[in-house]
Order: sequence, then structure tokens, then C-alpha cells
Amino acid sequence: MEIRFQAIGIIHTPYKESAPYQPVEEAEDEFTAVLEPRYEAGLFKLEKFRYIYLIYYIDRLNVQPKMHVKPPWAGSVEVGLFASRSPARPNPIGLSVVKVKKVEGNVVYTSGLDVFDGTPLLDIKPYIRELDSKEDANYGWIEGLDNREHLMLHIKGIPHKY
Ligand SMILES: C[S@@+](CC[C@H](N)C(=O)[O-])C[C@H]1O[C@@H](n2cnc3c(N)ncnc32)[C@H](O)[C@@H]1O
Repeated sequence: MEIRFQAIGIIHTPYKESAPYQPVEEAEDEFTAVLEPRYEAGLFKLEKFRYIYLIYYIDRLNVQPKMHVKPPWAGSVEVGLFASRSPARPNPIGLSVVKVKKVEGNVVYTSGLDVFDGTPLLDIKPYIRELDSKEDANYGWIEGLDNREHLMLHIKGIPHKY
């Protein structure tokens, strides 16, 4: 079955050719989701939420998805594609949770993102406490890796000196 979507806007970030693996909340540059003017009214009360999901099309991939991947930060560990957050997927859809800084007209200003400038935006949804955070969530296969805390800094792109 073929499904067609149209972008609802464009994401702007300072990243032209490389981006963090996951959003870096503390990043200081400007990150915005600019909606098509016809969708502006849909942002009504979005600012009430502290966090939102941005869902987007990972548009500049030139690799075919493989069913087994080795996440770059996880050494030589191999896992199934769907047990990973690899961008190279049959449907290259990305998902990032970010903080809402402010909404002005059709522009949503957010905390740091992990996408290239110009990435097409597919959807925005509120991140709702209790609905979206599971107290008993675990680390899956990451649990078994040595140095998990250190690896999490790499995954999240948090600068560290060890
Ligand atoms: C590992 S993915 C994670 C995306 C999202 N947070 C998720 O979990 O679905 C993030 C990586 O995708 C790549 N990327 C970001 N935007 C892209 C785009 N528009 N086209 C191709 N690759 C992109 C960058 O290499 C970035 O480090």
C-alpha cells in the first residue's frame, strides 16, 4: 500500500551536514518549526505544553535500510532495525521530543533538535505527562552494555570530558 503525506511545514536548525543522534535540550542555537500559514490556527494552546513531539520526514538519506544495524555509539553491538533509532528505515520518519520555548504566529521555537536544517515537518503532538512517560520504562538491549551512563551522554550528544 502506498501512502502519501504532505509536509505541514519545515524545521530550521543550525545543522547543515551533521546533527546530534538525539535532541540536545541545552543546545543554545535557534530551533524552529515553521508551519504552512494555513495550519497556524492549529497551534492554538500548544504553548500550554512544556514538551511536544515533532514528527518529520528524514529526507536526505542515501542509504538503503538494513534489517540489522550497529548504532554508531554502541561499539560493535548489532540489533534489529526496529530495536534501534537509526534514521535509515523503510519509512524514514523521525520523532523528537523537545521543549516549547514560545509560539509566535506560525513559528514554534523549541529546544535543541537532531535534524538537518530544512527537514520537512509531518506533525506536531503534545507530550502529556502520564500518557507519554512510563515509570517502568527500561533501557532494552542498552541495559546490557558496559558503561551505559557514559553511552547515554554520547546518544544524547551531551559534551563530557571522560
Ligand atoms: C539517529 S536519528 C534520530 C531521529 C529521531 N530523534 C528519532 O529517534 O526518530 C538522528 C540522525 O539523523 C540524521 N538526520 C537528521 N536529519 C536528517 C535529514 N533531514 N536527512 C537525513 N538524515 C538526517 C542525522 O545524522 C542525525 O544524527
